[in-house]
Amino acid sequence: GDLDSLQRRPPVVTIMGHVDHGKTTLLDSIRKTKVAQGEAGGITQHIGAYHVDVNHNGNQEQVVFLDTPGHEAFTAMRARGTRVTDIAILVVAADDGVQPQTIEAISHAKAAEVPIVVAINKVDKEGAQPDRVKQELTEYGLVPEEWGGDTIMVPVSAITGDNLDTLLDMILLVSEVEDLYANPDRSARGTVIEAHLDKAKGPVATLLIQNGTLQVGDILVAGSSLGKVRAMVDDRAQRVQVASPSFAVEVLGLADVPAAGDEFEVFPDEKQARAVSSAKADEQRQSRLLAAMSSRRV
Ligand code: GTP
Ligand code: NA
Ligand code: MG
Repeated sequence: GDLDSLQRRPPVVTIMGHVDHGKTTLLDSIRKTKVAQGEAGGITQHIGAYHVDVNHNGNQEQVVFLDTPGHEAFTAMRARGTRVTDIAILVVAADDGVQPQTIEAISHAKAAEVPIVVAINKVDKEGAQPDRVKQELTEYGLVPEEWGGDTIMVPVSAITGDNLDTLLDMILLVSEVEDLYANPDRSARGTVIEAHLDKAKGPVATLLIQNGTLQVGDILVAGSSLGKVRAMVDDRAQRVQVASPSFAVEVLGLADVPAAGDEFEVFPDEKQARAVSSAKADEQRQSRLLAAMSSRRV
C-alpha cells in the first residue's frame, strides 16, 4: 500500500530575513562550498532552487534550498493552507539586529507553523553583537537553547564561511524530528516555484516535487495549464529523466505559464488532465469575477 512505500525525503528550506542581512551571500556561500565540490563546471544555471549534499552523523544527506523571495513563497502557501517549505532559516545581521522584515518573516513562519533556525550572520564584522540579537529575538518568542528556550541560533559569517557546516548540521537535526516522508512510487504532485515564458522554449516552470516521481513524458496540469513533460533540467543544468520528492526541476512542455504557488499534478491520461485543466480554468475565472465584484461593491 501507499504507507509501505513512504520514504524519507530531504528537507526543503527557505531563507528569510531583513534586506541586506546576507540571505543571498549565505546561499551563495553554502552553494559554493557544498555544490561546487562534486562537479566540474560549478553552478551554470539558476533554477530558483538547489540541493546540497551534507555529511551528517556519518551519513550523506541532502538539503534542498528554495532561493525564492521568502515572503512570496510563504504568502502563496498560506493562501493554499499548505507548506512548501519544511524549515525557515531566519538571517539576522549581527551588526544590525532585528528589523521590520525580520519581524515579518517570524510571523510568516509562525503562521505557517514552519520551524525557524536563526542564522546570526556577519559575526566577522567589527560591530557584531550576537548576544544583542538573541536578546531582541526573545521579544518575539524566539529564545535560544542556551538560554533555556528551544530555538537553535547559529552565529555565522557568509563571507568567511565560518560555522556554515554547523548551520547545515542544525538544519538536518531539525528535519529529523519533522515527518518528512513521501512516496516516490506514485505519480508526482507539487508546487510551481516560478514560471516564465521563454521566447525559444515556450513556457518554462520550476516545479518542486512534493510527492511521487516526475518523469519525462508525464501528462500534468499546473495551475490550469495542461502539458506533457518534454524535458527536465536540474539545478546543475543537467538534463534529467526523473525527479524525486523534495527536488526541484525546470520543466518544458506546458501549454501556458502557470503562477508561482500554483499546484501541479500528474494524470494517467490526457482526457483526465484536460477535464481537470478546464475545471481549474473555470475556477480561476470565477474567483477573478468574484474579486472584481467585491472590489466594486466598496
Ligand atoms: P536582499 O536580497 O537585498 O534583501 O539582501 P540579502 O539579505 O540577500 O543580503 P546580501 O547577501 O545581498 O548582502 C548584503 C551585504 O552584506 C553585501 O554587501 C554582502 O557582501 C554583505 N554581507 C553578507 N554577509 C556578510 C557577512 O557574513 N559578513 C560581512 N562582513 N558582510 C556580509
Ligand atoms: Na542585498
Ligand atoms: Mg538577496
